[in-house]
Amino acid sequence: MTEHVKLIWQDKTFELPVITGSEGEKAIDISKLRQMTGMITMDSGFANTGSCKSAITFMDGERGILRYRGYPIDELAEHSSFREVAYLLINGELPTRKQITRFSVLLNDHSLVHEDMRSFFGSFPRASHPMGILSSMVNALKSFYPYLEGEEEELNATVARLISKIRTLAAMSYKIFRGHTVVYPRPDLSYCENFLNMMFDTPVRPYEIDPDIVQALSVFLILHADHEQNCSTSAVRLVGSGRVNLYSAISAGIAALWGPLHGGANQAVIEMLTNIVEKDIPLKDVVLRAKDKSDPFRLMGFGHRVYKTYDPRTKIMKKMCDRILTKLNIHDPLLDVAKALEEIAVNDSYFIDHNLYPNIDFYSGIVLRAIGIPTNMFTVMFAIGRLPGWIAQWKESMDDPEWRLNRPRQIYTGPTKRAYVPIEER
Ligand code: SDX
Repeated sequence: MTEHVKLIWQDKTFELPVITGSEGEKAIDISKLRQMTGMITMDSGFANTGSCKSAITFMDGERGILRYRGYPIDELAEHSSFREVAYLLINGELPTRKQITRFSVLLNDHSLVHEDMRSFFGSFPRASHPMGILSSMVNALKSFYPYLEGEEEELNATVARLISKIRTLAAMSYKIFRGHTVVYPRPDLSYCENFLNMMFDTPVRPYEIDPDIVQALSVFLILHADHEQNCSTSAVRLVGSGRVNLYSAISAGIAALWGPLHGGANQAVIEMLTNIVEKDIPLKDVVLRAKDKSDPFRLMGFGHRVYKTYDPRTKIMKKMCDRILTKLNIHDPLLDVAKALEEIAVNDSYFIDHNLYPNIDFYSGIVLRAIGIPTNMFTVMFAIGRLPGWIAQWKESMDDPEWRLNRPRQIYTGPTKRAYVPIEER
């Protein structure tokens, strides 16, 4: 029995159906609203607007819950691998041994990048940001690897191509911009081992693969793998709704992720913490600035559109900081500052009243620093992690019979009709 809400406007009453999700969430279906009332809704930033039904990721912002296809994020971080989580998100079920082996073969077979693409890197100015390069190179993949849209086998190959090559492109960008020899992927290494080796191996100093670093990277990527309808995923879905190819939809997602309010926050957090340490800024002054409405400064890595309590990923990432720094015997002063800032902020009435807690970006950069990833590649690492989620969300939208071209409406507030004025009379 479908529930309804009543909308009363002037002397009319309209009934709108209510949709209920598998976790009990409810939405008012307004798909017939304009036809019934002549009106649209307005929701700046879409904080109250659902764009789709999805069976991929469930988040509960009030209770700090995050599950991929029903599996809690802490269990996946503890027991799974990034390769397995990528398969789960895209295919809906944890893979059998046979399925994960086949997926691994596909990832290996598609790990190389067309040699003609190497020359592209040389055309970027040396100061180019790796996110701009990555977005361009992923878009260029379409030119080198055209696929027959609608062909299942082709799509599986394209998915593996993207997940495997994004890693190779990121490492190539790092090497080429330093004038170092490009290191090719190896068939005997796992997904994360290969990335680390392509990044840090050199002809004169072979990279020694540390299982703890590999595990830290795998957990980092799992924690970033999907997050329902965030800014960049919504960009992938919106661009994909025009039925452009998957590479270009993903390229749009990379561009959306780059922003400091979204995935770019992980780089902004480390820059903020570094500034505090280098200038020895008192933490109480940092918190005061964050609360000052006249000051554009925000406590980067704090706050979230959905989580109004701790981001469940943050607790796992924070533990990973301690684990990896202890293992590598590194003392990172930025971690001390981050923990002290968290302690002050979470006990401050402004942050409590505004439901502002550390999000995944607050501690993630500390782990990446320990691994040796340069700061300007932090958001690239976020993109590598988020890629399976973007693909899963894109695929779900393409398979949805109700999915249409995304084209929001507006309320016009500009000048009403007026006649053209010749330049002589202006
Ligand atoms: C990610 O959506 C996702 O799922 C994203 C993500 C994912 O996995 O895809 O989780 C990844 O992007 C995490 C967020 C990373 N961004 C940052 O850490 C940047 C700093 N955070 C903020 O800019 C902010 O919290 C946002 C952008 C994350 C969320 O902003 P909202 O929901 O639009 O909230 P808002 O800007 O309207 O702020 C509400 C109030 C305001 O105060 P009032 O005017 O109501 O008094 O909270 C204040 C804001 O000033 N506020 C902050 C703050 N964040 C919000 N004040 C100080 N410092 C902050 N960080």
